[in-house]
Formats: sequence, C-alpha cells, structure tokens
Amino acid sequence: MSAVKTLGVLTSGGDCAGLNAVIRAVTYHAIQGYGWKVLGILDGTSGLMDDPPRYRELSVSMFDQRLLREGGTFLGTTNKGNPLAYTMPDGTVRDRSLDFANGVRALGLDALIAIGGDGSMRIVSRLCDLAQLGVVGVPKTIDNDVHGTQWAVGFATALSVVTEALDRLQPTAASHHRVMILEVMGRDVGHIALNGGIAGGADIILIPELPYTIAGVARRIRELLAHGRTHALVVVAEGVKTEEGKKVSIHDPSGRARYGGIGYYLLEELVKHTGAEIRVTVLGHVQRGGTPSPRDRLLASTFGVHAVDLVAQGRFNRMVAWRESGVIDVPLSEVTIGPRAVDPNDPLIRTARGLGIHLGEQRAKPRT
Ligand code: F6P
Repeated sequence: MSAVKTLGVLTSGGDCAGLNAVIRAVTYHAIQGYGWKVLGILDGTSGLMDDPPRYRELSVSMFDQRLLREGGTFLGTTNKGNPLAYTMPDGTVRDRSLDFANGVRALGLDALIAIGGDGSMRIVSRLCDLAQLGVVGVPKTIDNDVHGTQWAVGFATALSVVTEALDRLQPTAASHHRVMILEVMGRDVGHIALNGGIAGGADIILIPELPYTIAGVARRIRELLAHGRTHALVVVAEGVKTEEGKKVSIHDPSGRARYGGIGYYLLEELVKHTGAEIRVTVLGHVQRGGTPSPRDRLLASTFGVHAVDLVAQGRFNRMVAWRESGVIDVPLSEVTIGPRAVDPNDPLIRTARGLGIHLGEQRAKPRT
C-alpha cells in the first residue's frame, strides 16, 4: 500500500468528451474511499511548471453532478510544448523537467493521475520519473490510438458524432444525387473513419493504413451509380495521403503542421474521374466536443476508480485499460511506443469488406 496523502490529477493533450467524468471519478473515489486531498492541476503539465503552480483543490461537492455531462476539461489542457524540449518565448529551447519537479514539491504531491493520449503518457511518465513521483495513466483520445487498450475515453462520443453526420449527409446526398465526402480526424490512424464509416453506412472508407487508388475509388462510385444508387457516401481519415503519397496539411500561421484537406484533394480528383457532383464536409473539432456518450461515461468512471485503486496499492507506472473482459492495467512502457494503428486483421476490416464497403486496394507496381 502507498502512503498517499495528496494526489494530483491533470489532463494533457487534445481535449475530448468524458475528461470531466474521469476527474469526477478520481475525486470521488480518492476522497470518499481513501480520504486523500486531491489537487487538480490546471492546463496540463504547464500548471505544475509555473511558479507558483496553478491548481484547484477538488472536492466532491464541487461536481454537483453537472460535470459528468459536460464535454471538454474544466481543468484545461494543452497539446503544445513538450516540457522536455520547451520553446521559451524568446525562441530558446529548454528542458523544464526541473520546473515540473519543483511544482510537484511545492504542492506536496505524493502521486499523479495523468489523463492523456500516447504522446502525453510518454512525456508525463518521463517527467514523473525524473521528479520521483508515482504516476498512473488514464487513456483518452478521440483517435483511439493508445496501445494496450481497446477503448480510450472520448472515442465513443466521436463515433456518435461521425455517425450522426453521416445520418444527416445521406438524405441530402440522396435528394441531390451527390457524392458526399466526409473528412474525419484521427491523425495518422483510421480508427474513427473505419468505425464511424461502418456505423454510418459509408460506401467507401479510406484510412492511412490501407492503400488506395483514385481509379479504384472512382470505379466503385461509378459501379454504385450504375446499379441504381443515386448517391454515395465516402469517409476519409485526415491522415490519408494523396495517391502519390504526399501528406495533405492545412497552413497554420503558427508554423505547426496541421492535418486536413484530403477531402478536397479527393473531390478534385474524383470529379475528373466520375463527372459526379461532389461535396465535402470537414467535421473537425465537432468530434471532440459535446456531451459524453453513455459508453464514455462508463469508461471514464471505471478508469477513474481503477486508477485511484492502483495509486492506493502503490502500483505506479501503469495505465488503466479496457479489454472486452473489463478493466485491466498495463505497464506504461507498453503504451509509450507510439500510436496504435488499425491492425490489418481488425475484425472490422472483414466486416467492412463483407458489407461491400470499398477500403481501397494496392497500387499497381510500376512496370520495369
Ligand atoms: O489527437 C486528437 C486530435 O483531435 C486529432 O484527431 C487532430 O488531428 C488533432 O487532435 C487536432 O489538434 P488541434 O486541436 O491542435 O487542432
């Protein structure tokens, strides 16, 4: 058993629905179950690196049942600036792990629960290691690309948004005899596109993990239209590259590369090859917001309680995780190896193919 008196909790990386539900579960169980003091760190690791550290003491009464239902994170978060190589306002790059350790000491933290994606897990576990602070991770990301868990908090809600978008696009596509392209998030992986596309009845789903050709997609659209369909739904993950393998990104004045734009590339190419009338919808950050779905609330609550129990047992450097049998925990070292791509043997690939959904095909090898 660990001798914890003060527990820190923070959210790190891009927000998603269900974060407040995790913080609530952590707070309820840590206070009611163990009698600890719980400090919510503001704006991810930045709250601990600032002098004085920025935080809020959390209590059971402050949740008043409202936060369970709210998207975002009331503690704030950031997906910029790695504290281990931090760009200061004057442009110099500094390792701020000492600032983090000073914050930990100033607040008297005995352990930390970090709610984040794979990148955050990697950074926060290293910072905690250097600060000699026990850490337990809780996976969250709409991209669902964290190793070791089948579900991350936020993914289920994002899927509902994608499904609803396709439910709304289908009647307008049918009315105007159009091809609708829906571009969804996911960075370099296609979990949102694959799951959301199947749930929303897409005809074509393109994900970064599977190759495609414009000719193949155009052929599938022509086939559909030739067999009595008046319209088609295409879902494309933002991380899909052009046919020539070029990344498509949005110009961001901050200089950071941002994903986005593959939907418009497809439109231009497919118009040439099919003559169909095509429209593009880029779903964007709508996928991250909104009320968490029941599945995300259950996952968040289960993860929060299990994470607190791991802290109480002194089982640090672990991440709570979901497998079909229920909640488990895995070593953080298994998680911090990079994003989890869609497995080519994912049963959903078979499902999609069984439904006749076009998932792309190998490009022809150039003749020698
Ligand atoms: O990783 C979550 C995610 O929503 C990605 O799907 C997306 O590419 C990215 O974050 C967007 O980041 P930002 O909020 O910085 O635009």
